[in-house]
Amino acid sequence: MMRSALFLFSMLTIASIANAQQKQVLVVPADAQGVLKYSPEALKVINSKCMNCHTPTSKDEDAKEALIWEETFHYGKKLALLTLDDILESLEKGEMPPKETVEKTPSAALTKAEAATLKAWVETSLAKLE
Ligand code: HEC
Repeated sequence: MMRSALFLFSMLTIASIANAQQKQVLVVPADAQGVLKYSPEALKVINSKCMNCHTPTSKDEDAKEALIWEETFHYGKKLALLTLDDILESLEKGEMPPKETVEKTPSAALTKAEAATLKAWVETSLAKLE
């Protein structure tokens, strides 16, 4: 009994480590030369709610076409402004993560606080660039 409990515990631990490693994290590269800068607060929200689909390895082609976070590290002013406008619009309309995802997995939704954090970061960034 004790041994099987221990076995189960170690399997669960291994599973959670594997899971954590799979989760994609947005890390600002040392050679980032773009004008778009991320606040630590914005990165935290993006990492927990916006990374599954908008990464180079995502299987969601539409999401990749719309935005790949890693590419924004090298954006100049024009692309940075366009991207910030897109993000702001998606926040104002409550479009991201997509409705179907949130319906299937309610915890995928942005909380009000997370949406406010992202919005504040977008607005500060726009003010700096404009
Ligand atoms: C479950 C996958 C998924 C997640 C998670 C997700 N997106 Fe998207 N995103 C998409 C898809 C698919 C599109 C393109 C289709 C569309 O425009 O609806 C898209 C498009 C966008 C666009 C382009 C503008 C637009 O509305 O078309 C922006 C900006 C964006 N996402 C930001 C975000 C942000 C910010 C988050 C986190 C709050 C996020 N996304 C989370 C799938 C996702």
